[in-house]
Amino acid sequence: MGFLLYALFSLFFISPSVSSSRTLAPEPSKTTQEKETTSSELTVELHSRTSLQKTTHTDYKSLTLSRLQRDSARVKSLLTRVDLAINSVSASDLKPLETGSEFKSEALQSSVISGSSQGSGEYFSRVGIGKPASQAYLVLDTGSDVNWVQCAPCADCYQQADPIFEPATSASFSPLTCNTKQCRSLDVSECRNNTCLYEVSYGDGSYTVGDFVTETITLGSASVDDVAIGCGHNNEGLFIGAAGLLGLGGGSLSFPSQINAKSFSYCLVDRDSESASTLEFNSTIPPNTVTAPLIRNHQLDTFYYVGLTGLSVGGEQVSIPESAFQIDESGNGGVIVDSGTAITRLQTDVYNSLRDAFARGTKDLPSANGITLFDTCYNLSSRGNVEVPTVSFHFPDGKSLPLPAKNYMVPLDSEGTFCFAFAPTASSLSIIGNVQQQGTRVVYDLVDSLVGFVPDKC
Ligand SMILES: *[C@@H]1O[C@H](CO)[C@@H](O)[C@H](O)[C@H]1NC(C)=O
Ligand SMILES: *[C@@H]1O[C@H](CO)[C@@H](O)[C@H](O)[C@H]1NC(C)=O
Ligand SMILES: *[C@@H]1O[C@H](CO)[C@@H](O)[C@H](O)[C@H]1NC(C)=O
Repeated sequence: MGFLLYALFSLFFISPSVSSSRTLAPEPSKTTQEKETTSSELTVELHSRTSLQKTTHTDYKSLTLSRLQRDSARVKSLLTRVDLAINSVSASDLKPLETGSEFKSEALQSSVISGSSQGSGEYFSRVGIGKPASQAYLVLDTGSDVNWVQCAPCADCYQQADPIFEPATSASFSPLTCNTKQCRSLDVSECRNNTCLYEVSYGDGSYTVGDFVTETITLGSASVDDVAIGCGHNNEGLFIGAAGLLGLGGGSLSFPSQINAKSFSYCLVDRDSESASTLEFNSTIPPNTVTAPLIRNHQLDTFYYVGLTGLSVGGEQVSIPESAFQIDESGNGGVIVDSGTAITRLQTDVYNSLRDAFARGTKDLPSANGITLFDTCYNLSSRGNVEVPTVSFHFPDGKSLPLPAKNYMVPLDSEGTFCFAFAPTASSLSIIGNVQQQGTRVVYDLVDSLVGFVPDKC
């Protein structure tokens, strides 16, 4: 079998960190590798949820099931975003900011669904806020733009590991007035006494409301002044102890947009690993990068769409109409790359074709019952190594990205059940999730409009 056609897959039996109990630590990690950076480069460590969260799960299967439930909530929140931006669902219907109610969002609280009680966010970085910098964990999110932290005085703050950010202790804290371009760029804002109030809701029940201000943000050893961030006085969503969120989307209020980053990149370490990787801005793109067009949807500038043209299994192209991956005239459809979605979602017909091709190539493997998102699972408890067909993403100009087998054969439990980790969606929007991005540095080249994938560069 050719190298690219089949992947020898060593069954790494899970000894999940379910027994370990590191918590989101208020102290900065002592393992911070001070990577040498040039003055136009910003680098900060990136951590997986596993490395930060004390897990309450007693076995790997219940951990997996809670991840999948969280993942469904995430996808729902992205689709809500699309509906708001494109499908003429009125934002004011869904996101009331009640005048005169002091940072209250009663209407939003009723939309809290169970998924959000699991906490949002899969990857985090430690970021300094203010002058002098208060260190805090922020969720990294390519699916949204507005940066925010929980902020005193709290009308309603969830529990976080570090002390709540206290504006009075920061010399660089500066409220934005209503006529500023930052305030006017918000989707939902309100003017009170000529200060700008913001509100962001994530469609999964999570939201944040407060003052829109500028602050100094420190990543690693470099700081940037006057970054517009939300000082959230009323926040809901159990961002598992993180103090807030760093918006990495494509809109004008996102962190990369505000610092005029030419590019940014992250490497998502294995979800089950406690090792850290990096989030980098303005770093150079390595020569062996597989590149694909970065496409913008003019109806929705937050999401990063990628020019996917096809999928192959074991070296054979799966028969899929190219239109299945394209954004249509109304702005629906297309394929986004997302840091917060775990399992890649494909339109049902596309998923079925891919799954059928994979199942044909794995006929000899003992099957197991499917569960939740997964309909194609295997009982590999008696195997040491198996060969599975390579699944590849294809891009224009004959470029392709073969995925490592562990990015699509994922363990469901610690007994040897593995599942094919793609899932169907009834929506026309496809999402390349973080399980499929693991171990790969993903580069967003904002100047040349390219998404780059660099294998084995964590
Ligand atoms: C990245 O490079 C651009 C263009 O050279 C520059 O304007 C920007 O300040 C740099 N960003 C950072 C964070 O260094
Ligand atoms: C409005 O702003 C003025 C001056 O900035 C301040 O004196 C006043 O207390 C503020 N009023 C309210 C209701 O916050
Ligand atoms: C997997 O197969 C083994 C035999 O190889 C069997 O003992 C075990 O019960 C099976 N597990 C499941 C979940 O079916």
